Amino acid sequence: MAGPSLTALACSALLVLAGCQSQPPAPQGISSTFTGNTPTAQQAAMQPESGSGYTRKPGWATQTYAVAAANPLATAAGDQVLKSGGSAVDAAIAVQLVLTLVEPQSSGLGGGAFLMHFDGKTVEAYDGRETAPREADGRLFIGADGKPMPFQQAVVGGRSVGTPGLLKMLEQVHQAHGKLPWAALFAPAINLSERGFPVSQRLHTLIETDPSLRSDPVAARYFYGADGHALPVGTILRNPELTQTLRQIAAGGSKVFYQGEIAQAMVDKVRNHPTNPGRLSLADLSAYQPKKRTPLCADYSANSKPYLICGFPPPSSGMLAIGQILGILGNTDAALQPPQATAQGVVPSANWLHLYSEAARLAFADRAAYIGDPDFVQAPGGDWRSLLAPGYLLERSRLIGPQRMPAATAGQPAPLRVGYAPMPPQPEYGTSHISIIDKDGNAVAMTTTIEAAFGSRQMVKGFMLNNELTDFSFTPTDASGQPIANSVQPGKRPRSSMSPTLVFDRNSGQLLASVGSPGGAAIIHYTAKTLYGMLNWGLNAQHAIDLPNFGASETGLPVEAGRFPPATLATLRQRGHDVKEQEMTSGLQAIERTGTGYFGGADPRREGVVMGD
Ligand code: GLY
Repeated sequence: MAGPSLTALACSALLVLAGCQSQPPAPQGISSTFTGNTPTAQQAAMQPESGSGYTRKPGWATQTYAVAAANPLATAAGDQVLKSGGSAVDAAIAVQLVLTLVEPQSSGLGGGAFLMHFDGKTVEAYDGRETAPREADGRLFIGADGKPMPFQQAVVGGRSVGTPGLLKMLEQVHQAHGKLPWAALFAPAINLSERGFPVSQRLHTLIETDPSLRSDPVAARYFYGADGHALPVGTILRNPELTQTLRQIAAGGSKVFYQGEIAQAMVDKVRNHPTNPGRLSLADLSAYQPKKRTPLCADYSANSKPYLICGFPPPSSGMLAIGQILGILGNTDAALQPPQATAQGVVPSANWLHLYSEAARLAFADRAAYIGDPDFVQAPGGDWRSLLAPGYLLERSRLIGPQRMPAATAGQPAPLRVGYAPMPPQPEYGTSHISIIDKDGNAVAMTTTIEAAFGSRQMVKGFMLNNELTDFSFTPTDASGQPIANSVQPGKRPRSSMSPTLVFDRNSGQLLASVGSPGGAAIIHYTAKTLYGMLNWGLNAQHAIDLPNFGASETGLPVEAGRFPPATLATLRQRGHDVKEQEMTSGLQAIERTGTGYFGGADPRREGVVMGD
């Protein structure tokens, strides 16, 4: 499939991980098929949160700093912190606290997050992922009939709630990189929760359409009017319980959350759920520890320019899958398939989409077979980088032909000490993404989640509790008894798709971009699309985000409805793809360096904006 420019691309676009920490001046830094789940689950995996409209965004140019978040009030909080001399981490904390209030469907104090940080020299990865309670085991989601529970039944209630990790991780990062006092970062969220904020269109839509939020009496009182309908757009919503929680944490630090009255309230809410109690305990909360992990950085070359792309290692599958997709594409003639300019904007071609979909299916087959919490699961050959080795990706790319391959199965990148069975596809949901670069050049890419929209639908102390445990496999083994890497075990972190990403100039080590998105498993596709658009097609951050969305799966090729020319879809069908047009509500945020400062983009499919100076 080689074309004229393949030589340069094939040699240079291969991702070479092993050397990425040693080459100055770069920053330091089984056989499987998808079976056993319903088309509904597959589709939900690609459309985790409902759409709420499409609003064109201009993109924003700034000179000295920039902050991008999913809600204008949250972005403004970050902007205020940066203006008053705060660091990127300070701003991220202020943004996250406001998101807990104004975007309660996506992230918050009751959830977890992955944060990538760059201080001008070193890239760091902070893991605030939730953990399974000590009393949980592989049968957590097996019902009385011995079968996996229906997904939504498992989500709503206490059973799905993991030990929240967000706050303790933010405190750890603040100790390392904060400039302003911890308590000062709480002021915007305290003010807004006390005085009230206007309910946005997106929040209104998600409340109105949620099938389960009313089942929690506390959430029902907060989110719905006396008439039983979602609070109308523009309603000024106050959250006195959250004000009180935030004041306590501002004054006392994370221990106020992990021990004492707030911890007890979370445990009571989980364990006393009337129909679906969970297993979270005070011991889980007081023992929670965030982890600093070694970031995964990969060499990448596009248009003869060398880059270093750094992302989150397991328990996230994000960077490994994105690295595999980009690396496999680099061995094909994808670079010879430019996007088309249409009346609706820039659109990937059918030939490129075919190659992307095949590369992504191969990556997702490896993801299903291998990826789980690295504290519990052996990487192939003892090193996750085996999954990105150039020779392995070349071998994988040879599986791609002109027609859709009948089934994408996992490869064997290195000898295995433990053979895992592939995890069947399951729905994966919400999240939010924050990108920030401060005036000193420190950068944050943080993706943050309570999993589904409104998490487990359990509201306590003014915030929503996560349902992150449903990111684990519902079954601990396959039918033959072979273990699944991402099974529930006490203290284990569920596999994630979150892909907070930092991009560097490989030669100078200069930070070029901070990128990420919500979207369940489709986070990987949304982020890969944006990186490819920026690095390979030369699009600015906004235009790369605007590119129509697409995914890849074993049961069909999901594409964003109404965004592709009929001829493109017809060609894909001729090549064997069962094209499925659907909503694909990404929530991308990206900030890139320009000659004069920064340029930020926010997703037209959600409410995000960029601010800065
Ligand atoms: N719960 C979404 C993710 O972690 O990928």
